[in-house]
Amino acid sequence: MELHVFKTAQDASQYAADMIIDLVKEKPNAILGLATGSTPELLYQNLMADYKKNHTSYKDVVTYNLDEYVGLAPEHEQSYRHFMNEHLFNGLDINMENTYVPNGLGIPEENAKKYDAILNLIGGADIQILGIGTNGHIAFNEPGVPFECTTHAVDLVPATIEANARFFDTIDDVPKRAVSMGIASILKAKKIILLAFGEAKAKAIQGMFEDEISSQMPATALRNHPNVVVLVDEAAASLLK
Ligand code: F6R
Repeated sequence: MELHVFKTAQDASQYAADMIIDLVKEKPNAILGLATGSTPELLYQNLMADYKKNHTSYKDVVTYNLDEYVGLAPEHEQSYRHFMNEHLFNGLDINMENTYVPNGLGIPEENAKKYDAILNLIGGADIQILGIGTNGHIAFNEPGVPFECTTHAVDLVPATIEANARFFDTIDDVPKRAVSMGIASILKAKKIILLAFGEAKAKAIQGMFEDEISSQMPATALRNHPNVVVLVDEAAASLLK
């Protein structure tokens, strides 16, 4: 894994944005794997700013997202589909039909199967963007989920529910389940860019590099991938040896 430590989250996010912009210019029908949450927000702002200024076109780009909460309709303000529309897609010329997010409504296990069928048709991402949970989860692969899993229905652990409660009125409103790409699906990407900012992520970043490779620290699976770039700020890197 290649590690870059930046002074600020904005510097790291601009670096990631430049990698995506270069890819899309070179390969207009690039496949992007995308994440939600606070971490990629600046990256997405930078992509939208570049689109406004330089008109980098996404009209032939295909995207797929890592996960979606079970029980939230696409229009729900906290659904990941809504997040992606608001934080990225509406600010680009992307064809919405080329943007895939797992379906949160209906039977999660069936939605997971359907999503895997879509991913198999599309093929692995040229670049996959990832955040990391404070417990080392990537997508919603919580500690203990086997690396071999493809898209599946997951029970969110209390730490994740608590971490995500900041987006909801009360903690009781946070969905308890999600449909998430598995680690095996994530590792199919040609290149993976993981972003992490702030002291709260320092332990997870340390674990990802220094723990033994095991499903107990899901992000250690990335050490099995040949092309991973980790972009962090100084706070997130603070516990690394
Ligand atoms: C989001 C996702 C999660 C987040 C992680 C960090 O699609 O799959 O793994 O990347 O929970 O979340 P933030 O960025 O909000 O700290």
